[in-house]
Amino acid sequence: MAKPILITGASSGIGYELAKVCAAHHHDLVLVARREERLLELRAALETAHGVQVLTYRGDLTDASTRQQFFDWTQAHSIIPYGLINNAGFGDLTPFADSSWEKQNAMLQLNIVALTHLTRLCLPGMIAQGQGRILNLASTAAFLPGAYMAVYYASKAYVLSFTEAIATELEGTGVTATTLCPGPTQSEFADRAEIKDVKLFEGKNLPTSAEVAAYGYEAMEKGQRTAVHGTTNKVLSLATRLLPRKNLADITKGMQKPA
Ligand SMILES: NC(=O)c1ccc[n+]([C@@H]2O[C@H](COP(=O)([O-])OP(=O)(O)OC[C@H]3O[C@@H](n4cnc5c(N)ncnc54)[C@H](OP(=O)(O)O)[C@@H]3O)[C@@H](O)[C@H]2O)c1
Repeated sequence: MAKPILITGASSGIGYELAKVCAAHHHDLVLVARREERLLELRAALETAHGVQVLTYRGDLTDASTRQQFFDWTQAHSIIPYGLINNAGFGDLTPFADSSWEKQNAMLQLNIVALTHLTRLCLPGMIAQGQGRILNLASTAAFLPGAYMAVYYASKAYVLSFTEAIATELEGTGVTATTLCPGPTQSEFADRAEIKDVKLFEGKNLPTSAEVAAYGYEAMEKGQRTAVHGTTNKVLSLATRLLPRKNLADITKGMQKPA
């Protein structure tokens, strides 16, 4: 495969659009998600439009053995990734004390553990090749505590901290690690998180997943460390450094109060 990029959560939203951007830049692709029929449709479209090779893998990445089997499968296909895009993730709007533990645990497994595990599995091969790109999806949520989405915001803070740390470890190896921090974006995310009716999303003219993906791809290719999408989000993420964290949590409480 030519400079293959592995993309998790490529069946919708930002991951789907990242697959399109990567294919347009002549990367072969390995796409992972649970809804394989969507991946197969995307595969056919990308192979026709760009002449790239696309492989798909159906799997639930909250499961450690699935992640290992996926990686073993890539090795059996002699794939050493040029790029790894850890995009799969989800949120949940609910007061923590009322939340489903099963759902919060799945979120931790996907947003944190799967991202860390896949990075650990892929990195040695990338370093041995002397080149590679990692793009980890965080969020502007990474910069502050998020009332009613406590686990989600904390999971994205982890992604930011983890990726910044390995970016420094990787200096001089030819491999870079980039954290992409979108703000609220059009995708299936808000529906799934049951957040589309709160102030943060409701009635807003949100950027498309395609816009975020194009920005994220460019940042990844440049080896940028942290990429916050959109001028307002950039300003807000800087402003979080100035305000007391209690105030930040209060702001999210106002913006995200469940109906
Ligand atoms: N949209 C926003 O407002 C926003 C803002 C900031 C950051 N983000 C982050 O951007 C990333 C992409 O989200 P999105 O907005 O594109 O949402 P989305 O449209 O809901 O896409 C999420 C993707 O993750 C996959 N996924 C979910 N659970 C999975 C599992 N257990 N195993 C494997 N794949 C799984 C989904 O595929 P299947 O269901 O087919 O498995 C889907 O392809 C996430 O990490 C999200 O936290 C989103």
